Amino acid sequence: MAEITVRVNGTERSLSVDTRLSLLDLLRERLGLTGSKKGCDHGQCGACTVLIDGRRANACLALAVACAGSDVTTVEGLAGDEELHPLQAAFIEHDAFQCGYCTPGQLCSAAGMLTESGPSAVTADLTEDPALTPEEIRERMSGNLCRCGAYVNLVTAIEEVAR
Ligand code: FES
Ligand code: FES
Repeated sequence: MAEITVRVNGTERSLSVDTRLSLLDLLRERLGLTGSKKGCDHGQCGACTVLIDGRRANACLALAVACAGSDVTTVEGLAGDEELHPLQAAFIEHDAFQCGYCTPGQLCSAAGMLTESGPSAVTADLTEDPALTPEEIRERMSGNLCRCGAYVNLVTAIEEVAR
C-alpha cells in the first residue's frame, strides 16, 4: 500500500492505495467518478481517457501511485459551474454520439488534443497546414474508438471547436 495525494477535478484527495491499482479503478471504484469508462482495460479503446497534468492518457494503463502529486481531470471536471465545455456543447449540437459509452473518453481526448502542437507523424506530409484539418483530427483521435461509428459527427464537432 502507498499513501498518495492527487488533485482530481480541482480537489485534493489523499488516499491509501494498492500499488497495483490503476488510475481508472481509483477514479471509478474509490472516488465514485464513473464518467471515465472501462472498455477494454488494456489501452486499446480510449474509453478511459483522462487528462493528467493537462496531457491525455489512458487511465487504465496509468498506475494510481504514479499519479501522486498530479492534476487529473475527468469528464466530470471539464465543464464550468454554469456551462458546458465547448466540446460538450459541440458534441450535442452535432449529434456526435449514439450510445455515449465512448463519449467521456472522446471529450477528454479532444480537450487534450486541441492543446497539442505540431502535426501528427502520419498527416505531416499530407497537408501544408495540418493543425485543423479533418484528416489531422482523425489521426490525432485515432486512439479513441466508437463502436457506434459516430466518427463523422465527432470530427465535425471537434473541428468546429478547433476553429
Ligand atoms: S479502457 Fe482504457 S483504453 Fe480501453
Ligand atoms: S457513441 Fe456508442 S461507442 Fe461511441
